[in-house]
Amino acid sequence: MAQQEEVFKKLIAHCKEYGFVFPSSEIYDGLGAVYDYGQNGVELKNNIKRYWWDSMVLLNENVVGIDAAIFMHPTTWKASGHVDAFNDPLIDNKDSKKRYRADVLIEELLAKYDDKIEKEVEKAAKRFGESFDATLFRQTNPRVQEHQAKRDEIHTRFVKALNDNDLAELKQIIVDYEIVCPVSGTKNWTDVRQFNLMFSTEMGSTADGALKIYLRPETAQGIFVNYLNVQKTGRMKIPFGIAQIGKAFRNEIVARQFIFRMREFEQMEMQFFVRPGSELEWFKQWKVTRLKWHKALGLGDHKYRFHDHDKLAHYANAATDIEFEMPFGFKEVEGIHSRTDFDLSSHEKFSGKSIKYFDPELNESYTPFVIETSIGVDRMFLSIMAAAYTEEILEGGETRVVLKIPASLAPIKLAILPLVKKDGLPEKAREIMENLKFDFKCQYDEKDSIGKRYRRQDAIGTPYCVTVDHETLENNTVTLRDRDTMLQERVSIEQLSAILSEKVSMKPLFKKITE
Ligand code: GAP
Repeated sequence: MAQQEEVFKKLIAHCKEYGFVFPSSEIYDGLGAVYDYGQNGVELKNNIKRYWWDSMVLLNENVVGIDAAIFMHPTTWKASGHVDAFNDPLIDNKDSKKRYRADVLIEELLAKYDDKIEKEVEKAAKRFGESFDATLFRQTNPRVQEHQAKRDEIHTRFVKALNDNDLAELKQIIVDYEIVCPVSGTKNWTDVRQFNLMFSTEMGSTADGALKIYLRPETAQGIFVNYLNVQKTGRMKIPFGIAQIGKAFRNEIVARQFIFRMREFEQMEMQFFVRPGSELEWFKQWKVTRLKWHKALGLGDHKYRFHDHDKLAHYANAATDIEFEMPFGFKEVEGIHSRTDFDLSSHEKFSGKSIKYFDPELNESYTPFVIETSIGVDRMFLSIMAAAYTEEILEGGETRVVLKIPASLAPIKLAILPLVKKDGLPEKAREIMENLKFDFKCQYDEKDSIGKRYRRQDAIGTPYCVTVDHETLENNTVTLRDRDTMLQERVSIEQLSAILSEKVSMKPLFKKITE
């Protein structure tokens, strides 16, 4: 774990050094849990969004997009339940004056028991070698069983406390299992209180009677309130989906782990409207499709897992997370929820306007049920960077840092490098760039040795480098270097566009999703 933390620190430093992510307003010492994307970060982010957007609206005839405003009528958030229930249970340590999410403290304790169990299994696996039966060991080893029993005991109490919204019991779990403040090391805790996560501001001048409005904490509600507009103007028939990408804001209390938990972040959400009764079938189907979307990137199938929810939100009848193995363990990147007709019915009630769908096949009107897929752009960004960051020891003993970002998502697709800064090579390189720049994000670089330039491109994940040398002037060929293998092949300039188109296209990924 310590080694993983070290890698994570290096990744954060790398993101800053190479123009991916900067702390917000850094010259004023930054703003907690708010980040800016730099020149390379924004390209990667845009490519992630393009991959998601096209996978929704190109691959599915019955999914269309919208772009709703961040500000919404305040009653929206009453209807959605966010004003009354979008809370985190918080607890303060009286000695350090630090504030924590009570549920996170308990989840961390559960994770410690999981770690203890895994360590026992790993130790035994080493001891017994090939004949080791991990399942049997878990079932029979007394130490593992002891840890497991403790974990189950805490987990059962935790789930019940969450389901019952029992804040006193949450505190009691913290007290009973002697959870200490990581800063002061003491058990001197306040009671647990609820804290609403929405940011608010005022619209209009006070003289006119300013309206208290919220910065949306999720993009989904912009889709719900527009669902009938889209259905009618797009002549959509159920089942159909509406996709949206946009900013969301949450006053997160435990905001750490870099861009994993931010106060301003971006979501890619799709609400899929279905006939009541068919929602669990669609839930299953979207789970499969969304996992394929992730796995198509080739970051490693073993890095994903589903985590089905123990505690279902009051509006859901099924929910799961797609978790990714971050440097700090498996963490949620995407949520898939069967939200029933809760949101639409509630908007109908609060607005007093009918938003029922008339189903021409059944000849009846009803409120559709909704399956939601909701993924954070920033968490997706982090998972790609974490999987891509690689340190390699080369033959001469030199270390190369390379970002093995999937080629179709890489910020820069091609670097164009004249071998030397004379003999007409820069001019030839510029000519190639002029031809390719309409289709690919290219970067021209003539400074420093070719080796150093390759390293710079490796560090930002550029999948291909073209080197223009003296032979280029003789026969119109260049070397094309592959980032991951570092192998170079000689190709004609004429072929470059076709070769690159194939190598950096998203099409193979889309094919994998639809297979
Ligand atoms: N509309 C449903 C919804 O918002 P959620 O599980 O609260 O569900 C969905 O959020 C996704 O948004 C998460 O899986 C995560 O990727 C992202 N997300 C949520 N809170 C975030 C935060 N504070 N910072 C970064 N991403 C966040």
